[in-house]
Amino acid sequence: MLTGNEIRQQFIDFFKEKGHIFVPSSSVVPTDDPTLLFTNAGMNQFKQYFLGIQDAPYKRAVNSQKCIRAGGKHNDLEEVGKDSYHHTFFEMLGNWSFGDYYKEDAIKWAWELLTEVWKLPKDKLYATVHDSDYEAYELWKTKTDINPEHISFHGDVDNFWEMGETGPCGPCTEIHIDTGIEYCDKVDDPNHNCVVNSDCHRYIELWNLVFMQFERQEDRSLIPLKNKFVDTGAGLERLCRVIQNKTSNYDTDLFANIIDAIADITQEPYLAGDDGVAHRVIADHIRCLCFAIADGGMPSNEGRGYVLRRILRRAARYGRLLNQNQPFLYQLSDIVAEHFGKHFSELKEKLAYIKMIIKAEEERFNLTLDNGLNKFNEIVDKLKSDTISGLDVFILYDTYGFPPDLTQILAEEKQLKIDMDGFDKEMEKQKERARSASNFKLKLEDINWIHLKEKDETVFLGYDQSSTECFINKYALNENGKISIVLDKTPFYAESGGQVADTGRLFNDSTEIRIIDVQKHNNEYIHVGEIVKGEISKDKFTAMVEDEYRLSIARNHTATHLLHAALRQVLGEHVQQKGSLVATNYLRFDFTHINAVNQKELEIIEDIVNNEVKKATNLTAELMSIDDAKSSGAMALFGEKYADEVRVVSVPGFSKELCGGTHLENTGQIGFFKILSESSSAAGIRRIEAVTGTNAEQYVKQLKKEI
Ligand code: ALA
Repeated sequence: MLTGNEIRQQFIDFFKEKGHIFVPSSSVVPTDDPTLLFTNAGMNQFKQYFLGIQDAPYKRAVNSQKCIRAGGKHNDLEEVGKDSYHHTFFEMLGNWSFGDYYKEDAIKWAWELLTEVWKLPKDKLYATVHDSDYEAYELWKTKTDINPEHISFHGDVDNFWEMGETGPCGPCTEIHIDTGIEYCDKVDDPNHNCVVNSDCHRYIELWNLVFMQFERQEDRSLIPLKNKFVDTGAGLERLCRVIQNKTSNYDTDLFANIIDAIADITQEPYLAGDDGVAHRVIADHIRCLCFAIADGGMPSNEGRGYVLRRILRRAARYGRLLNQNQPFLYQLSDIVAEHFGKHFSELKEKLAYIKMIIKAEEERFNLTLDNGLNKFNEIVDKLKSDTISGLDVFILYDTYGFPPDLTQILAEEKQLKIDMDGFDKEMEKQKERARSASNFKLKLEDINWIHLKEKDETVFLGYDQSSTECFINKYALNENGKISIVLDKTPFYAESGGQVADTGRLFNDSTEIRIIDVQKHNNEYIHVGEIVKGEISKDKFTAMVEDEYRLSIARNHTATHLLHAALRQVLGEHVQQKGSLVATNYLRFDFTHINAVNQKELEIIEDIVNNEVKKATNLTAELMSIDDAKSSGAMALFGEKYADEVRVVSVPGFSKELCGGTHLENTGQIGFFKILSESSSAAGIRRIEAVTGTNAEQYVKQLKKEI
């Protein structure tokens, strides 16, 4: 029997022989597309080529892309485990043509691979084409030996593939397999016509060949792309199922080892059908968690992190149904790494880290689960209908950490429903509360600007200058008596990337304004100030940053980079920045790491940083393309959206990071670095606070006094 690993390799080799370049899977946690929760199709990493924003470096490509479809647009989470072929994580095999071959070869090769290499029975294969695509229909009929009666036309819903609301798209042709009438789950439905695309479990889509030729615009119109492209996607798990002749994806070797391990650990044998849901959920979810965490994902309370948290909690909850009251999921990571680590080496490299994260999250969940279950029972006892209210679902979520689908599972067990619309409304209210509590001091939409110049943008000169002559573009009087001013040029750094804003003065002979805060909005630098004397005018001003203040900030910012590099040296490469604050008097750095950093490690980290200070190395800052920056090994933040051109700040020989902040010229200017505290900031995230320069000296003096 061909294994899953062999099937993946055969796909790649087949297309390599046909002139395709193998391109490794991109991260399943996209780092540069904020519109995307997770990578959900093989073509995500090629989007720029389709849109003509970048030239493809090859004409033909083949890959196996790690995909997650949970949360967001394509959300299969609730279905997973209940049937035999939906997954949160799956591998999408694909071949691409970037303005090279088109429909004919795409169709011929797919057919050749399925029927000649893998010998799938031709009489069970079906092709669908888009209503408008007679060309594809003819090609199927004349260039392959598919039974012509097995080709059918379908509308946009089934045969027009779009990446999202906007973006590249085109008609597609799909290949389905008939798994047999016994798999139809709608035999009792008199209206059911058991054919391809009729939404029962009998016909399974194996491979989608998309002929990319349009870009969908926001107004829903389509404009033709400059070139024509082929984008295909075949689910490895489904292919394995049919090639290995199994009745469910979960019976293939891609899942079987994991399911065996679950049965071993829980002492509960796996049963097909409804009694096997828990095993299937856990097997599916652990693959998803391992791959996502290896690529920088982290369970948390928002965005992607929240989806991962829900997935983990769903698995842990099903674990309880198998009598697992202690953390156990993390143990399954070994098998995932062993089975998939050959092709995806990151699983092996980060195995210890993956286990740490999963175990910590399981521990955290177990604590809340017990409290939450009590609360849930209380709610059910008081219930006067068969539906748990949106507010109660929200309280369980917000206070007890129960994802709504967990509440749903518990409710289903008691034949109850939950009010999801009500829950969504509560979530919206919470977001509103969070927005109004946010400390962004300016409500931009409320500002009544008085324009003095035509242009609004500000040129930032602060990397090399601490003062400049300038003019006021526009200004506004704020309700609190302060004034907001947008300048044409400024040396003032606006609060961003964790670094606080510069403060200083804006003045000329008749006017003096104290600048107390600076915020950036698009390309405008909004200086918030207090008028000390005089008035606003079109005259020339001098904008001057308080040097001492800026220097203190730079000490802390450069020290943050040294600390980051030292942490990675001492604790390991898994350390990733998760947040920072660079203020005048101290710095705070949050990073991924499970256990507390012990005293000994802290001392070593401090020594490493102070050694770099003593070396008095000159810093460099260069602008380069994001690709060059990443390939030069510069550290970037997971999930952060970067421009095409980025600034890379280096302490040569020691640290290199993407950073827009203001830094020292030389590490020696830090003077002295001292860690104040080490603590937990969230599950799996530690926090270090530290001081530099005079603040560090004062801290030591203070300590001495106390002793
Ligand atoms: N991009 C196509 C899909 O995801 C192949 O189905």
